[in-house]
Amino acid sequence: MSAFVSYVTGWLPGRRTGSALPMCAMAPLDPQKKRVVVSGASGKTGRLILQKALDLSVSEEPWQVLGLVRDETARANLVSSIPGCTPENVQVADIRDSQALKRVMSPRTDALIIATSAVPKIKPLSILKVLVGKVIGQKYAPEFTFKLEQSPKEVDYEAQLNQINAAKEAGVEHVVLLGSAGGTGANQFLNTIGNGNILVWKRRAEKYLINSGIKYTVIHAGGLMDKEGGKRQLIATVDDIIESVPLQESKTRTVTRADVATVCVEALRHPEYVNRSFDLFSKENGEVTTDYAKLLRDLKGNSRYAFPVDEQDEKEGYPNPR
Ligand SMILES: NC(=O)c1ccc[n+]([C@@H]2O[C@H](COP(=O)([O-])OP(=O)(O)OC[C@H]3O[C@@H](n4cnc5c(N)ncnc54)[C@H](OP(=O)(O)O)[C@@H]3O)[C@@H](O)[C@H]2O)c1
Repeated sequence: MSAFVSYVTGWLPGRRTGSALPMCAMAPLDPQKKRVVVSGASGKTGRLILQKALDLSVSEEPWQVLGLVRDETARANLVSSIPGCTPENVQVADIRDSQALKRVMSPRTDALIIATSAVPKIKPLSILKVLVGKVIGQKYAPEFTFKLEQSPKEVDYEAQLNQINAAKEAGVEHVVLLGSAGGTGANQFLNTIGNGNILVWKRRAEKYLINSGIKYTVIHAGGLMDKEGGKRQLIATVDDIIESVPLQESKTRTVTRADVATVCVEALRHPEYVNRSFDLFSKENGEVTTDYAKLLRDLKGNSRYAFPVDEQDEKEGYPNPR
């Protein structure tokens, strides 16, 4: 039940405050530094990724870090709340706008971490129905929808492709794509939210990335928790294997956003992450993970794209990686 709650509440949007900053030019490209772009930087995981990338860029990595958000308010919010984040570290681009993406990634980007996602909105009337149901002893589930032109097809597939295409044009060598566990099953609960088929569209975008020829890392995160990172054993697996173990037995279907953010950034630092697609969970009482290269070195195999959902995709014109 807790994983279920984590999944659903995790998809609900957080509040955002902040005032607009004046438009500012991007930092000039430094030929000595690797330019790392983080999209979805205003998101709950995206901002942690941006923060970690910025921290590393002053301590260990010669990186020039750029977060992408879709409006000036989000940009101002990041600049005012992330230590060391300047207006030059954040740019505005709606990922549905391929020209805007090309502009921010040009003239050269070396690595892209994608943390964008469609976000379901709860239908207010359905809350009323749930409350009335409680009074009359009937059980109703809350209902969700997506904002106009922000469905999973538009955000998690089409806009994801925009990002991958812009990355390719900008010479990106490595794309890290943050996705979700559960994509091997057609009847996954998350697909029913707002009838969005969100895992189906996410999986199609990851196949497009894998087929693109760019070095890739696909991370299928388990239910995301807003807890401190660096306190748990991380479990890397493939093909939703943990998903198929009953929750009472596995107790590992969740992972903190902070740990996911660390893995997204570490993926750019270790060759073990190149051309890997895997699921990421965590275990409460295991040995805390500190060696991120070992996490993937120890993982035998890669996610397979050979499930009934993938066969269906082939039929519908979304090619599976070979
Ligand atoms: N929640 C879970 O339990 C769970 C479990 C497994 C995997 N995941 C996946 O993990 C990832 C991170 O999740 P999260 O909850 O941290 O994400 P989130 O807070 O929902 O963030 C989504 C981000 O995408 C951005 N975005 C959406 N449409 C955009 C557009 N058109 N242009 C530019 N940016 C756009 C949002 O920008 P705005 O802030 O402007 O809306 C936001 O920054 C997602 O892919 C999610 O599906 C989640």
